[in-house]
Amino acid sequence: MINFIVDQSLCTKCGGCVADCPAMIIAMESGYPAIAAEKEAACYNCQHCLTVCPTGAVSILGLKPAGSRTLAGGYPAPDNVEMLMKGRRSVRRYKDENLDPALLQHLLEVAGHAPSGMNTRQVRFTVVDDKDKMAKLREEVMSGLVQIVRDNALPEGLSYYADFISMWEKSRFDVIFRGAPHLLITSAPKSVASPLPDCLIALSYFELFAQANGVGTVWNGLAKVAINDLLPGVRKRLGIPDDHLFGYAMAFGRPAVHYARTAQHGAIIHRV
Ligand SMILES: Cc1cc2nc3c(=O)[nH]c(=O)nc-3n(C[C@H](O)[C@H](O)[C@H](O)COP(=O)(O)O)c2cc1C
Repeated sequence: MINFIVDQSLCTKCGGCVADCPAMIIAMESGYPAIAAEKEAACYNCQHCLTVCPTGAVSILGLKPAGSRTLAGGYPAPDNVEMLMKGRRSVRRYKDENLDPALLQHLLEVAGHAPSGMNTRQVRFTVVDDKDKMAKLREEVMSGLVQIVRDNALPEGLSYYADFISMWEKSRFDVIFRGAPHLLITSAPKSVASPLPDCLIALSYFELFAQANGVGTVWNGLAKVAINDLLPGVRKRLGIPDDHLFGYAMAFGRPAVHYARTAQHGAIIHRV
């Protein structure tokens, strides 16, 4: 049951929901939009009908328009978004402090709005939500890697991990997580339509909203390889399901660095 309900006292019969439904299952019945019972299974659960309705007449999936934020005039100015996108930096110096749990929850909840292929929405956010847990993970990863280096068992092409370990052993300098107090890993069932894009898009959403909130982030390929490829026991300990694709990792926390201006990159554009 998808619970498609139209409040007839609010519906203007504009047909907006009919026109916008990507599954094309909404039709006018006796003058009002409706979904035939046999078509309900084709619903994408995308909520376009609820969000496109200008008068807030449509509810679906138990969700009412009042639970949404109205968008009239609500988007930030393009220049502000551009500043965020150009000003975002990989942060590699962090304060040794936890994020406010309410802020962390908010960042994750907003990142949960990222699109996913066929709207499967199966991305799982595995988050190290406390700096002491992060310290434990750091020790676990570093000691696992120390063992691999001692056993001369680093796979070909990953010999540079030996340098990271030597820095860790000499001075406790953490090249892998950059001393971040938190880590986020996105994973998704391998069986969904597009697990890797879904995971990467979710992290991009997280990163931009985090940085808009003064939270530093860094995409963490070194952590991904360490946890997913070199130390499967750590992946298991973190509870990433066996049938999930490990999408990517991102370290984050309050930055101990402030950037004063945007970077100046170009784009490789190929016009056809
Ligand atoms: C897929 C991916 C993996 C990355 N892995 C790491 C990493 O493990 N450690 C790190 O310090 N930076 C990592 N980075 C950050 C890049 O080095 C960084 O994006 C690049 O140098 C440009 O700097 P900026 O992000 O500040 O613009 C990664 C970036 C991407 C996109």
